[in-house]
Amino acid sequence: MRPARLVQMAFGIRFDDAMWGCDDVSLATLATEVGTPTYVYSATDIEERYHRLDAALGAYPHAIHYALKANSTLAVVRLLRQAGSLADANSGGEVEVALRAGFIPDQIVLTGVGKTEQELDRAIRLGVRTINAESAGEVDRIEALAVAQGARARVAVRINPDVDARSHPHISTGLKATKFGVALDEARELCRRIAGSATLDLAGLHVHVGSQIGTLGPVRRAVGAAVALATALRAEGMAVEEVDVGGGLGIDYGDAPVPTLEEYATALLEIVRPSSLRLVVEPGRSIVGPAGALLTRVVDVKPRGPDGWCVVADAGMTDLMRPALYGAYHRIVPLTRRQTARVHCDIVGPVCETSDTLGTAREMPRPEPGDLLAVLDVGAYGSAMASNYNRRPMPAEVLVRCAGWELARRRQTVDDMLACES
Ligand code: LLP
Repeated sequence: MRPARLVQMAFGIRFDDAMWGCDDVSLATLATEVGTPTYVYSATDIEERYHRLDAALGAYPHAIHYALKANSTLAVVRLLRQAGSLADANSGGEVEVALRAGFIPDQIVLTGVGKTEQELDRAIRLGVRTINAESAGEVDRIEALAVAQGARARVAVRINPDVDARSHPHISTGLKATKFGVALDEARELCRRIAGSATLDLAGLHVHVGSQIGTLGPVRRAVGAAVALATALRAEGMAVEEVDVGGGLGIDYGDAPVPTLEEYATALLEIVRPSSLRLVVEPGRSIVGPAGALLTRVVDVKPRGPDGWCVVADAGMTDLMRPALYGAYHRIVPLTRRQTARVHCDIVGPVCETSDTLGTAREMPRPEPGDLLAVLDVGAYGSAMASNYNRRPMPAEVLVRCAGWELARRRQTVDDMLACES
């Protein structure tokens, strides 16, 4: 049941009363109490986004499987389960996290381009809701494993509709040349093969053409291709139940506007409704992305060029990889307020790589060592992509609700880091 609307309440990462906060908790206070680098998330903001998408899909038969890859911190996954979401796992590890967060297998779909036999065997044994198959070979493996277990497996075929998501090339997955899914002709054959199997149940088609998609055109084309194929398969007499349209809706990082969750839902429904196929979505970023900030403390400041400054923070590419990997833009705001003139600052991390930057050419009053900064919109693909490179510990994570907060993940220690080593 959707709770009473929360729009009147102030929540999320926001600037209010002359300070940056997460809901009603000051980010500067949190940084002081928990240390830095630390990820902070607004529980209410995450819930609100989930409920907005659910409400926008309305009474049409649908299922929202939150994509754990965006943020699989247990407290965040548990929160979304409690909000009513289902789960999309991209690996055996994410399946286990989903189970520990309280999902039952029937609430989990398993995706992923290279599922191992062990991962498939476990998924079939558990009885996950659907396995989104990426190739004919994978369908063979699923069938053989299911036969060996004397079990059934529900399978969807991931199509590659050859649609350009026009996102960053690293995260555009819908073009023929990429490793994802199977071409439309091959998908048709594969569905016939699944429908004719004594062990497999054909769930339907799956499509995901990319992430951080900024316009609805590619979504419409991809979903349109899936619906057209599903309709053709039904005409052949196959019981195709659903179309899983993956994730992909972008968020506004402050550099380009994107469609809203409501506009996205409307576009999906326009295309899927005439087919009456059940609609499955796997959103990640659009649910958790804007709800997170990364708190970091300045460790050094030095002149760079004629009028610029190099601001070295204690968070870097090991904590937030997106700027280094994709040249991604994230807003960076000072939590320590200074009245001095704004200057050009490159905010960089401590790792010995030139790519280790959080943001370049930012205008802000020159920070001093000890000052606090917040990197915004990092709820998705932030902590989930963090690493121990340079033997840097994983950051702490905090979940805020209104005026209270809990430590979702304590900062990793050197002992934690070495626990698996001889
Ligand atoms: N379903 C499938 C099959 C996916 O591959 C993905 C994301 C999603 C759902 C969720 O997509 P979302 O709604 O979050 O866009 N690390 C990159 C993003 C990689 C996305 C991979 N797949 C980044 O930081 O931008």
